[in-house]
Amino acid sequence: MTVPDFQTWVAAGQQRIEAFLQQVLPQPDIAPQRLHAAMRYAVLGAGKRVRPLLAYAAGELSQADPERVTVAGAAVEMIHAYSLVHDDLPCMDDDVLRRGKPTCHVEFDEATALLVGDALQSLSFQLLGEYRLADDAKAQLEMIKLLAIAAGSRGMAGGQAIDLAAVGKSLSVPELEFMHIHKTGALIRAAAVLGARCGNGLNETEFARIDTFAKAVGLAFQVVDDVLDAEAPTATLGKTAGKDAEQGKPTYVSAMGIAQARTLAGELREQALQAIAPLGDRGARLAQLADFIVLRKF
Ligand code: IPE
Ligand code: IPE
Ligand code: MG
Ligand code: MG
Ligand code: MG
Repeated sequence: MTVPDFQTWVAAGQQRIEAFLQQVLPQPDIAPQRLHAAMRYAVLGAGKRVRPLLAYAAGELSQADPERVTVAGAAVEMIHAYSLVHDDLPCMDDDVLRRGKPTCHVEFDEATALLVGDALQSLSFQLLGEYRLADDAKAQLEMIKLLAIAAGSRGMAGGQAIDLAAVGKSLSVPELEFMHIHKTGALIRAAAVLGARCGNGLNETEFARIDTFAKAVGLAFQVVDDVLDAEAPTATLGKTAGKDAEQGKPTYVSAMGIAQARTLAGELREQALQAIAPLGDRGARLAQLADFIVLRKF
């Protein structure tokens, strides 16, 4: 069997996750129609789907059934989409553009956007309870707990709290790292680990390698997000450029400048690749995703 090139593999993963999300998100003609329409608006049709792609790559390594990985990837993507909807609210980053469209609260209203987040978070965990992800029920419970921690106050939500508390302040590099590992790194790490846990083909040392890889890539992801906010145009980003400086957010760019932040992203990529180097060719997809994350333009 020929191995698909990276672009083809990415497109196939994006289509697969999109089709599943389409299917499990309530149809907009089901009551409450407006909430369901807003949930679908926030999740479907755009987004790089980096987290599900990481889950697929890690799942391939552990010889997981792609149907199981799709469920895990969709669950993480729903938490991610909810985090974006809430991140854009006036009480947080107050953004009007997301994924090239008006933000959820602009297109609908603030109360609906709040509920979209609540409902997407619930639906994410519903999926993890509804579908079989692991052969063993105890292993599946551990997977559910892993995503709960990654999304909660010791993960993404906690990182967002740190981000909001830091507005107008300057953070040291270790403090920035702590914030970024939580607000963005936690879900990225969870995506890769959950994808791997859907299969049985890896030993614990190999799992640990994927976890170390994902931790470095998760931090690199937000470092690059900070760089792009300062450097890329709104039209390419699909979200308002220059927001971090405008709002006085401490970022890797404000702490060390664009050039050094880019260098750091490259170093984190190296760290990630080193972690999976012992996996040899089996780690090729993960390595390609690390490049995709660090070299992306949006
Ligand atoms: C944006 O995430 C928010 C961060 C966590 C930095 P993505 O860049 O993955 O956004 P989408 O899903 O592709 O829109
Ligand atoms: C958001 O970070 C991370 C989340 C948990 C959503 P940002 O505030 O930098 O994300 P963007 O730039 O608005 O996508
Ligand atoms: Mg934010
Ligand atoms: Mg934001
Ligand atoms: Mg940003």
